Amino acid sequence: MSTWAVLVAAGRGERLGGDRPKAFVALGELPLLAEPLRRLDESAHVDAVVLVAPPGWEEPAILLAEELGASKVSACVAGGETRSESVRAGVAEVPEDAAVILVHDAARPLVSDDVISRVIAALGEGFDGAVPALPVSDTVKRVDRHVVVETIDRSALVAVQTPQGFVAPVLRAAIERGEGPDCASLVEAAGGRVKTVAGDERLLKITTPGDLERIAAWL
Ligand code: CTP
Ligand code: MG
Repeated sequence: MSTWAVLVAAGRGERLGGDRPKAFVALGELPLLAEPLRRLDESAHVDAVVLVAPPGWEEPAILLAEELGASKVSACVAGGETRSESVRAGVAEVPEDAAVILVHDAARPLVSDDVISRVIAALGEGFDGAVPALPVSDTVKRVDRHVVVETIDRSALVAVQTPQGFVAPVLRAAIERGEGPDCASLVEAAGGRVKTVAGDERLLKITTPGDLERIAAWL
């Protein structure tokens, strides 16, 4: 029963607006990518890691992994134009006999062993997939050109994070289907059962410079 982590780090980081891809923007003393990579590599639940780097940044990514002594990194490949394409490129490097695939956004650096174990435990209960989720605290409305169409019952809503975990063959089949906002949506569309587990406020995704400052303060 092996668990592989696919760390997707191939985005451009346009909303962060740096002079380099988001994964290589500084967080503390090191490139942002170092933090989630070290955490996945150190996790007792993770057997191997596939790194998906921005095209042209594979070599710096490998050097960073070596510098960190991240011994579980098995492959480093270039990502694609979209997140889904990057996930496909990473999953293609996972061997056929892998049991579980975790897909994690490098833009969520503070991944913890606790959240990984909750995701894996849900797969052990027989679910096809499991995603960390947080309750939605703001009231949410559907709008059409600034006019409210409807107020949505917040109690039935959650905001989901990564790492998202899947039974490996289920994820492989689902990602053949095309694009989706996250991996779980592809598995759901294919009829898979996906469980939500408790997320973590610290799994905040770095999108803007303000997010980067907040995460840096939490380090
Ligand atoms: N990602 C990826 N390949 C892409 C796009 C996104 O691997 N073509 C990854 C990012 O590196 C990130 C995660 O998917 O870890 C979530 O994406 P997002 O936060 O949107 O990051 P970026 O696409 O880099 O940022 P932006 O949308 O602002 O350009
Ligand atoms: Mg993006």
